[in-house]
Amino acid sequence: MVKAVVAGAAGGIGQPLSLLLKGCPLIDELSLYDVVNTPGVAADLSHISSPAVVTGYLPKDDGIKHAFTGADIIVIPAGIPRKPGMTRDDLFKINAGIVQTLVEGIVQYAPKAFILIISNPVNSTVPIAAEVLKRGGVFDPKKLFGVTTLDVVRAETFVASLVGEKDPSKTTIPVIGGHSGETIVPLFSQAKPSVEIPADKLDALVNRVQFGGDEVVKAKDGAGSATLSMAYAGFRFAEKVIKAVKGEKGIVEPSFVYLPGVSGGDAIAKVTGLDFFSVPIELGPNGAEKAIDVVSGANDYEKKLLEACYSGLKGNVSKGIEFVQNPP
Ligand code: NAI
Repeated sequence: MVKAVVAGAAGGIGQPLSLLLKGCPLIDELSLYDVVNTPGVAADLSHISSPAVVTGYLPKDDGIKHAFTGADIIVIPAGIPRKPGMTRDDLFKINAGIVQTLVEGIVQYAPKAFILIISNPVNSTVPIAAEVLKRGGVFDPKKLFGVTTLDVVRAETFVASLVGEKDPSKTTIPVIGGHSGETIVPLFSQAKPSVEIPADKLDALVNRVQFGGDEVVKAKDGAGSATLSMAYAGFRFAEKVIKAVKGEKGIVEPSFVYLPGVSGGDAIAKVTGLDFFSVPIELGPNGAEKAIDVVSGANDYEKKLLEACYSGLKGNVSKGIEFVQNPP
């Protein structure tokens, strides 16, 4: 039996993500938590003729307790999204506290659940979650994931259109580092199958993967950031975690994790100087079974990108840790 929870389920990402999870035959119970509108979203989804039984909870009447208890996987897209001109870091003030509160709920009611953090800035909200879990004595680094799949999805899509590949999902591209601007580093040299990117197109392609989110923010013109593509990406990652837990082998997807807690991660952390970092992760029954070192294979062009990534990411990570250790 698999119980999945979406925290922030009534939002722009939360609703389509919940729809995709409801349609997933691997899920038996789907629990929706938000500060607004979950009864309506749950009632609506519950009419869909798929196996998952849907329930919706609000904070009143111990909603978080009922929503989280018995959860196997909790996906968190709760928090405010960007408006034009905002960086992901601008969201920190509000979203840091939201993620902290939700993870405190996980410590209390679902300490063994896999946790997938979508709320931005992911570079800081994942370290926040780790600190809260540590403080609660239940931190298992194999079970905490920052969802960076949208960067991977974008890299696949933009490369396919550049090289004329009809099915973007056929190419695997490691996108590593963090999840904002220059901290996002696509390693096109390690694409499988390999891709030929014309030298004069490479800078623009990298920039598009790093700042692709801005295209959506601008096009939505004040109405938020990526929601539908993010729901797709969040579902893709959640489904892979569930499949791996159920025993499917060979599932690999990049994710932002606490490297020293994942097999093979220590060596990568030494090279990057960062404990929190996204690399391709081999998933298994316990979650993040192995961190795959793609960093040392980066070419000179990518090494330069990585230098910029390291310095940006360092500050984001310490900001998250500091938020929990020395509250403002
Ligand atoms: P939204 O504003 O449409 O939805 C957020 C939902 O969170 C709302 O329904 C709100 O009521 C709920 N919420 C607020 N406080 C809560 C709390 N304490 N407990 C439970 N629910 C709470 O925003 P949207 O567009 O769905 O984005 C959500 C987050 O995802 C943002 O932080 C955004 O930056 C981030 N995001 C992350 C991406 C990634 O690649 N990791 C990509 C796109 C967005």
